[in-house]
Amino acid sequence: MELYLDTSDVAAVRKLARIFPLAGVTTNPSIVAAGKTPLDVLLPELQDALGGQGRLFAQVMANTAEGMVSDARKLRGIISDIVVKVPVTAEGLAAIKLLTAEGIPTLGTAVYGAAQGMMSALAGAEYVAPYVNRIDAQGGSGIRTVEELQQLLELHAPESKVLAASFKTPRQALDCLLVGCQSITLPLDVAQQFIAMPAVDAAIEKFEHDWMGAFGRTSL
Ligand code: G3P
Repeated sequence: MELYLDTSDVAAVRKLARIFPLAGVTTNPSIVAAGKTPLDVLLPELQDALGGQGRLFAQVMANTAEGMVSDARKLRGIISDIVVKVPVTAEGLAAIKLLTAEGIPTLGTAVYGAAQGMMSALAGAEYVAPYVNRIDAQGGSGIRTVEELQQLLELHAPESKVLAASFKTPRQALDCLLVGCQSITLPLDVAQQFIAMPAVDAAIEKFEHDWMGAFGRTSL
C-alpha cells in the first residue's frame, strides 16, 4: 500500500518522513492556501523534505478542460513527475482524457460517489480520491463508497487505484485499508494519532521503572 500525508507543512513532512514509510505528499488548493506559500516554492521544498524521494500531488485551479491541461503542464514544469489532481466534473473528465493522452498522470479528486470515481478511472486517472469524512458528514457512508469504488476499479479499471482522502479519525483510515484500498492520504493530526498512544508510553515507563529498581540505571 501507499501512505501519503495531506499537508503543506514542510517542517512536519521533514519530521514525519523520518518515522513513517511515506510514499509522498498530497496537497489541495485549501491546504496550499492555508500555508500561503506559492506552489513554485512549496513543491520543491516538499520534495526536499521527502529526501528527494516520493511522489507529490497538486491540483489544477482552472474550470475548463483546456485550462486544466494548461495548469497541469505548469505543475509538471515545477516538478517533472508530479501527479496532477483534477476534480471529477464534466470538464475534469475531459481534462483527464487529454492529460492521459499526453502521458501526464492524474488523480480524480473531489469524489463523493463510486460511479463518479469510476468514470475518472475509465478516463485514465491513475488514482481516484473519495472524500471519506466529507461523505460521512453529509449523512452518507464514506467507507461504503470506498468499498464500492474499490470493487468497481478491480472489476473494470484495474490500472487505477483508490487513494482515500479526507479523514478525521484513524478508524476511518483503517476501515478503508480493511476494505482493500491501496493508498490513503492522512492529515497530520490523524497520522500522529497512529503512533501516539498513552498506553504505550505507560508500558515503556514501567519497563524503565522496573529496570531502574533492579539495576540502578535505565540503560542495558
Ligand atoms: O485533499 C482532499 C481531502 O483530503 C480533503 O480533506 O479534511 O478537507 O475533508 P478534508
